[in-house]
Amino acid sequence: MQDTVATLIDIRPLAQGYNVLTFDAPAIAEVAQPGQFVHVQIPSLEASRLRRPFSIYDADKATGKLYVLYKVVGYGTQRLATLTVGTKLNILGPIGKPFPLTPSGTPYLVGGGYGVAPLWFLATRLPRKGILFVGGRTAADILETERFKELGWEVRIATQDGSLGEQGLVTLPLDAALVADPQAELYACGPDGMLHAVGDRAIQHGIKGWLSLDKHMVCGVGACLACVQKIRKDAVGDEMLARVCVDGPVFESREIVW
Ligand SMILES: Cc1cc2nc3c(=O)[nH]c(=O)nc-3n(C[C@H](O)[C@H](O)[C@H](O)COP(=O)(O)OP(=O)(O)OC[C@H]3O[C@@H](n4cnc5c(N)ncnc54)[C@H](O)[C@@H]3O)c2cc1C
Ligand code: FES
Repeated sequence: MQDTVATLIDIRPLAQGYNVLTFDAPAIAEVAQPGQFVHVQIPSLEASRLRRPFSIYDADKATGKLYVLYKVVGYGTQRLATLTVGTKLNILGPIGKPFPLTPSGTPYLVGGGYGVAPLWFLATRLPRKGILFVGGRTAADILETERFKELGWEVRIATQDGSLGEQGLVTLPLDAALVADPQAELYACGPDGMLHAVGDRAIQHGIKGWLSLDKHMVCGVGACLACVQKIRKDAVGDEMLARVCVDGPVFESREIVW
């Protein structure tokens, strides 16, 4: 894990409230793996100086560039949206257990909103292409799908208001695909409800489901226990508390006690 001062070198606005930031952060870009995150010290946060965690959206060893895709949701991310190119930020990372890169079936990636961030990094590193299932409340939450298509991934979209793709939850197209090809391996990032639904499907179909959990974090390095999640140990089935920041954020479906 590196504690580094990174320079913001590009800001790319996406749909309303979403942006992609590019940082010059070679020490992190060199070792980053899909599913890991960075803990960012956002400058000039008078009231709340805690770092904010963001998945690594992409990392390029050759150029030293590190990418983060984020949504403005509150005080810290509003402040992040006011930063200009050239700003220097303290960034800790990469942190956490990454997604495994050895799918035993077709990789099915499931996400929505900023949950698509680690899935893009994963899509660029997996040894085979598969399907991205992406869901959201409305069309504005469906991000970067053209990039997945250009990379050779199939994309299936569902929105709750029907403004893009099928109307309904992302599990609608996922269920149809699992009937057609159940020999899949699932990788998901998004809200707990979606992760729980994806995890249940992995268990029902007897396949692996890798879930990236989104918990409120404080230290981000395993010291404060702000991010604990009840999990089940593989062999004996005993329940214990895991720290999502360092024991996760990626867990296999069968480990999670919802
Ligand atoms: C491992 C990990 C990876 C993440 N990756 C990304 C990412 O790639 N892009 C991105 O935009 N966000 C990501 N998040 C969520 C991001 O950290 C929060 O949205 C951010 O910290 C909110 O800061 P804020 O000060 O703007 O919001 P606050 O003012 O602290 O809170 C505003 C609202 O957001 C909610 N909120 C705060 N933290 C979280 C959280 N961790 N998860 C869900 N809701 C939260 C609060 O409950 C509140 O409703 C990730 C979180 C984790 C734990
Ligand atoms: S955020 Fe402190 S232990 Fe995970």
